[in-house]
Amino acid sequence: MIRSVLIGNGSALPAQCVSNAELAERVDTSDEWIRERSGITQRYIAGEGETTATLARDAAQAALDDAGITIAEIDLIVLATATPDNTFPATATKVQALLGGANFPAFDVAAVCSGFLYALGTADAMLRSGIAKRALVIGAETFSRILDWEDRATCVLFGDGAGAFVMEAQDVAEDGPGVIATRLHAEGKHGELLYVDGGPSTTGEVGKLRMKGREVFRHAVANLAGVLGEVLEDAGHEPSDIDWIVPHQANLRILDATARKLGLTMDSVVVTVDRHANTSAASVPLAFDVAKKDGRIQPGQLVMLEAMGGGFTWGASLLRI
Ligand code: ACO
Repeated sequence: MIRSVLIGNGSALPAQCVSNAELAERVDTSDEWIRERSGITQRYIAGEGETTATLARDAAQAALDDAGITIAEIDLIVLATATPDNTFPATATKVQALLGGANFPAFDVAAVCSGFLYALGTADAMLRSGIAKRALVIGAETFSRILDWEDRATCVLFGDGAGAFVMEAQDVAEDGPGVIATRLHAEGKHGELLYVDGGPSTTGEVGKLRMKGREVFRHAVANLAGVLGEVLEDAGHEPSDIDWIVPHQANLRILDATARKLGLTMDSVVVTVDRHANTSAASVPLAFDVAKKDGRIQPGQLVMLEAMGGGFTWGASLLRI
């Protein structure tokens, strides 16, 4: 059967790391409050010259190096972001040019924190249908640029970064590697719980992130538990078959609550929210890259990726490495 197989992964972070204590010097907050409520201890913030496209390029190049191939062997880029360099052209096309690629489809998808799951699902469908052979799937964000630094309830929770997968269409056995099952959801009626208060067609300004944190929390746990169950059922697996969950890194308490709903412990959950904070569409591939490079995620293992974000949008994908 034809499946999309992960053949390389990479990530990139801005140069500047900002600790909770440093943040507390300019925002009315404390290290203790941020740690207790979210598990975050630090985040990376893009500086001058660092943009969503440059972070995406660095993550993508690292993924290409990991796969042992060059951009010449790629024929699709799908990039997830809610913080593109410009309204258009798509950041994916900018990354294509920065990497020296030409003449293949490259486009952005916007599903906020679950953007990487949407991008992976889209690329997987295009690879399995034969539209492309080898895809770069990227999640990249500079959320620091849409934060209201006067709103302490949101600005302490986010960071910048990028992560990338190289996916290849391969003919594999049933129990072989690749994406096994994916489910994506959206429920637009909850748009006002997590949104940006501007845009090209409304205010003409970029706008700032607004969030009703408590309500987002409640929906996140219920939606994620639901979609994880659906993907496991589609794939014919039990929760106990999962070697690693690589969740969207929004908040340690959401990760904990979701794992418990599946009857799993935090021992099988990859956690990077403490170091990276919430990097939106970048968080799943960033966390995956950390756990793959440090040797936790091994070939042959079953890995569940999952995310939920503004919209609401949410999704999960089960793959064998
Ligand atoms: N520092 C100190 N105090 C603060 C801060 C801060 N940074 N932010 C808020 N507070 C205060 C509030 O003013 C409030 O004070 P009051 O009781 O005197 O009015 C108190 O802390 C409690 O505020 P709440 O917002 O009720 O705190 P809560 O316990 O709900 O935690 C949080 C807030 C962390 C945002 C939580 O609701 C949450 O994790 N929600 C999930 C949202 C999320 O992770 N979103 C990410 C994007 S969506 C996604 O990725 C899934």
